[in-house]
Amino acid sequence: MSEDPRERGKRLSALKALDWVEEGMVVGVGTGSTVAYFIEALAKRRHDIEGAVASSRDTAAKLESRGIRLIDLNAAGDIPLYVDGADECDPYGRLIKGGGGALTREKIIAEAAARFVCILDASKQVELLGRFPLPVEVIPMARSLVARKLRALGGLPVWREGYVTDNGHWILDVHGLSILDPVALEREINQIPGVVTVGLFARRPADLIVVDGEVRHPGR
Ligand code: 5RP
Repeated sequence: MSEDPRERGKRLSALKALDWVEEGMVVGVGTGSTVAYFIEALAKRRHDIEGAVASSRDTAAKLESRGIRLIDLNAAGDIPLYVDGADECDPYGRLIKGGGGALTREKIIAEAAARFVCILDASKQVELLGRFPLPVEVIPMARSLVARKLRALGGLPVWREGYVTDNGHWILDVHGLSILDPVALEREINQIPGVVTVGLFARRPADLIVVDGEVRHPGR
């Protein structure tokens, strides 16, 4: 049976990301099904690298099970490389992330990384962000306050009921937003009291995008 084209795209992009892994590096590792292919590939290079910083419990478990040493971000300091997937990516490398719920730790590691390589299959590419519902991690007591504020911004927030993040918080998935200025919207949502993280990665976008195994330079 032939491989599903989306899975093939994810796998090829994940393999390509190994090109940026260098001897002795600490590698930041994202979360999700695309990253799962990257972890499989990275496991073959585990003796070359110093270790990996995980963006979720799920990723930490996968890394450990493949014999890749886990490193705490506080001990690592700034890191040279972060590899992660996304739910949507625009031509400038600005992303919607958090479909898998790991947006907060992902954003922290992206911020600490000198280079952020985003690995995708072609279905995730969009001209304008917002078709994929925008995840917003919230402090549980602020859920309905934040939802009202998001409605005032023109979105339709839906509580991801029953789901608790690795940080003990909840997620609102915001439908129907037209994200014309991702940097401004990221800043505006971040300022709502009770918001932990918004899954817009625009202020710190990806530095390189790999789509179906092909490298793209954002904005070019
Ligand atoms: C998790 C994420 C993932 O990168 C995003 O959901 C894409 O996942 P997948 O590779 O499974 O399509 O942001 O929080």
